[in-house]
Amino acid sequence: MKILVLPGDGIGPEVTAEAIKVLQAVDRRRGLGIDLKEGLIGGAAIDAHGVPLPDPTLARARAADAVLMGSVGGPRWDALDRAIRPEKGLLGLRAALGLFANLRPAFLYPQLADASALKPDIVAGVDILIVRELTGGIYFGEPRGIRIRADGEREGFNTEVYCESEIRRIGRVAFDAARQRTRRLCSVDKANVLEVMVLWRDVIGALAADYPDVELSHMYVDNVAMQLVRAPRQFDVIVTGNLFGDILSDAAAMLTGSIGMLPSASLDERGKGLYEPVHGSAPDIAGHGKANPLGAILSAAMMLRYTFRRPDAAQAIEAAVGRVLDAGLRTADLLTPGREAIGTTAMGDAVCDAL
Ligand code: IPM
Ligand code: MG
Repeated sequence: MKILVLPGDGIGPEVTAEAIKVLQAVDRRRGLGIDLKEGLIGGAAIDAHGVPLPDPTLARARAADAVLMGSVGGPRWDALDRAIRPEKGLLGLRAALGLFANLRPAFLYPQLADASALKPDIVAGVDILIVRELTGGIYFGEPRGIRIRADGEREGFNTEVYCESEIRRIGRVAFDAARQRTRRLCSVDKANVLEVMVLWRDVIGALAADYPDVELSHMYVDNVAMQLVRAPRQFDVIVTGNLFGDILSDAAAMLTGSIGMLPSASLDERGKGLYEPVHGSAPDIAGHGKANPLGAILSAAMMLRYTFRRPDAAQAIEAAVGRVLDAGLRTADLLTPGREAIGTTAMGDAVCDAL
């Protein structure tokens, strides 16, 4: 198992260190044969090499079977030219490796129902999988830029563009995922306003003929935003484009208690993947040792499941996380009155012990 670790910026290094500790603990017990290499991405790479995705990082990522990433970005690099912002490192890696399928599960550990900002009876039983298209849409569409109009005013512009084959391949990933779950798929678009989304709805709708056992619905993105906080249990698998998926996955995260809990997988056609927690670099708490490492740890579990086809090892990690939560251990982001928070390292150690 050749794994490239890219700790990145902010809390990234702190949480990936715990995920690695957990992977090594699983390796000792189950003989996975993991081979870890490290690389630089994002702000850390800009500081060392002047670019967010240095060539050696890309070469190592291509040579690896899977990449485990922390997070990129932070106020230190906000003033830089757009072309070398830390986020470009991550976006460049997604594009270069063809990681078009982003799986973002929003699963509520029952122990955390009281940690959600929503009422426990609304979030109880939430188990959603957001399938986000990751290498197309407005994130990569051309033309893009900031230009000066004839009247001297500046104007910014981007292009939301999807072709049929891009919609079809992410649609298939979502239909296949729905088959492994409760066979309900909701496709999210804005077909009432945008032509590109009329095509999206059309192509996803046509795919349904190949999946008669999956119940397909279509919903506008504004309604989904509302339904996610009103009655989230109506959703099983959600499939959507790059931008809507970015936004909805943060909203869905809050159903589960904390965005610090959520893992993600970004896969290519053959199952090679980049795994990262959904949370960002959280510069406000970076270096304080209080970040929640469970999103990173659960990302390592997803890696074992999707790239390395070791569901047994993935389940072992997920069960260990459950036991740690059962024991009442919480990082600060999950805190409810009457409990005391533990730090990042203590949480990682507790998961290793529970393994
Ligand atoms: C995410 C992040 C990224 C995105 C940023 C860091 C480029 O918000 O993975 O959701 O917008 O895709
Ligand atoms: Mg995001």
